[in-house]
Amino acid sequence: MSKIDVVADGAIIAAHWREENHIPPPSRFVGQAYLTDAAVFERFAEENFPECFREYADLLDWKQYWHTTLDSSRPPFFKWFVGGKLNACQNCVDRHLGRHRNKTAFYFVPEQEGEPIVALTYQQLYRRVNEVAAMLRDFCGLKRGDRITLHLPMTLELPITMLACARLGVIHSQVFSGFSASACAHRIVDSASRVLITMDAYHRGGKLIDHGKKAAPTVAEAAKEGVEVEKVLFWRRYPGQCRSEAPILKQRDFFVDEVLAEYRGKEVKPEIMDANDTLFLMYTSGTTGKPKAAQHSTGGYLAYVAGTSKYIEDIHPQDVYWCMADVGWITGHSYIVYGPLALAATSVIYEGVPTFPDAGRLWRIAEELGVNIFHTSPTAIRALRRAGPDTPAKYNHRFKHMTTVGEPIEPEAWRWYWEMVGKREAVIVDTWWQTETGGHLCATVPGIHPMKPGSAGPGVPGIYPVIFDENGSQIPRGSPVAGNICIRNPWPGRMLTIWGDDARFVRTYYSRYCKPDSTDWRDWPYFAGDGALQASDGYIRILGRIDDVINVAGHRLGTKELEAACLTVPEVAEAAVVAVPDEIKGAMPDVYVSLQPGVSADDGVSRNIAAAIIDQIGPIARPRFIWLVPDLPKTRSGKIMRRVLTAISTGRDPGDVTTLANPEVVEELRALVAEKVTGVG
Ligand code: WT7
Repeated sequence: MSKIDVVADGAIIAAHWREENHIPPPSRFVGQAYLTDAAVFERFAEENFPECFREYADLLDWKQYWHTTLDSSRPPFFKWFVGGKLNACQNCVDRHLGRHRNKTAFYFVPEQEGEPIVALTYQQLYRRVNEVAAMLRDFCGLKRGDRITLHLPMTLELPITMLACARLGVIHSQVFSGFSASACAHRIVDSASRVLITMDAYHRGGKLIDHGKKAAPTVAEAAKEGVEVEKVLFWRRYPGQCRSEAPILKQRDFFVDEVLAEYRGKEVKPEIMDANDTLFLMYTSGTTGKPKAAQHSTGGYLAYVAGTSKYIEDIHPQDVYWCMADVGWITGHSYIVYGPLALAATSVIYEGVPTFPDAGRLWRIAEELGVNIFHTSPTAIRALRRAGPDTPAKYNHRFKHMTTVGEPIEPEAWRWYWEMVGKREAVIVDTWWQTETGGHLCATVPGIHPMKPGSAGPGVPGIYPVIFDENGSQIPRGSPVAGNICIRNPWPGRMLTIWGDDARFVRTYYSRYCKPDSTDWRDWPYFAGDGALQASDGYIRILGRIDDVINVAGHRLGTKELEAACLTVPEVAEAAVVAVPDEIKGAMPDVYVSLQPGVSADDGVSRNIAAAIIDQIGPIARPRFIWLVPDLPKTRSGKIMRRVLTAISTGRDPGDVTTLANPEVVEELRALVAEKVTGVG
């Protein structure tokens, strides 16, 4: 076999997207928005950097005000608000008791529609957080700087436990509940956690999942790798009754509701933390290598998520805000828990899947609670469109603001979100950022900028993006070629480092374009690892991870562009494109497509997809095969696993697929592809 490079080797990617038109934000939104004056960009301009971020930090309550806004003397280990002291839990809970004691902090919506929605006030949150903090301190012996691993589903107990940790200065590391025992064990080992907090069961997709049974194998595997978990605490979905078949080990395993009885009414003083002390760890897999933990700070992180929750999410005191991510991801940490709570907002936590029991579920919840800010991902938008393209019209929910985050959104999906979900009344904000960045990097400021389907928008206030080519030269605005997007400046939300691996931190995010001997922050742009291009209006369009680029006969094509072309065919619900080696061209795209419900897979659809790709991108992008499939393999967070599809297309072993949301489709696709490639072809 010839050695063929299908992986990105340079920065230049040709771009073929059609330029979309600007759509002005609805006037109903602008009339009430926090930011409507473009002067904010002067306040946050480079001349005023880093002092501009004082505005975000001043949203917080500091026990001691800082003396240095940014210490950049040891790049890239930047320190924000140096000398400042505060507690994140006190900022998210205690300080609201004066004015907002009886306000709902969280609505918890159980997946079972018959179970009542729980409204937890700030006062109740305060009580529960204090009791849990007392238990963690006195029963578990945890103190500031210790790590603890949480493996909790989408219930109130998750933010309560996080905030209790923050109160003590204990570093929480929440592992997404859909992850396996061994994934959880690796994270316990990497962070050296002595305590694991989990839950017996939760509802998902109409089933009561036995989550508790993952705990014993988790602890066993961590022990094999050298870390002894001393205590496992089980929250119970229904206090008093255990819904897990997990064996309970005396001395090690405890039910939280039983232990808490001893801590009723206990109060715990919030630990006074330094601004640059660690608040939490969040693991992210990256494309290769072992998962790494983004280590986020207390002061900079909280200031940044509070500021962006206010200005980009536009959360006002009277709003009901619903971010339908899982708290187990960074989106949930920043924009369900810490950001909204720092602003004393009302935030919704939904236990289950968006389409259970039907495609109208979300809109019923939104109607009932009066949700007016809705925040989700392109994957969820596509799934909702697929499950019920006309369903939102049947409900009277009324959004003022809708966010999308997580991957590039195709203009087709964007328009459905805008017209059907938002009823042309809600502004759409496409927010580009990463686990590592803590909060938004590029997005429109919704009361100022017009929207542009498929584009994230310019840098948010205080973020100066730049696109570099392979040699570190800046690719100008309006250029038809894409490159590597970087952020020129430090910002308060960025992680402190990778937990336990400073060298990997520097290598991954800085080595590409930094001047290693310089101590000037201007010589240390943050390398995000995404391909992007900037239109002449300054809007950034993200093409996806640089590793997802396909090089066909020397033309570098962004997989996302091909996928967007597929979505212009009305029958298409979702598309994924992967590269397969080709003797002549180096690589060719294989296209996997799932269709809208009720559409039958026939040659006409395939022909239209091929025509759309050739029309919108060019004959160079002509696919090798177009596979019409029932479903695409996805992670639990909804990201399409192109790695698995590549393995299927190239006849290789897809490896471990047990962490997928739908592992069963892998075999199905494999059979389909194998038959065609080796058979009729
Ligand atoms: C990667 C980061 C941001 C929190 C959730 C995901 C992609 C994220 C967008 C967007 C285009 C996006 C990028 C990024 N991404 N948001 N609005 N448009 N692409 O966090 O798991 O750390 O993933 O998601 O490729 O690098 P994450």
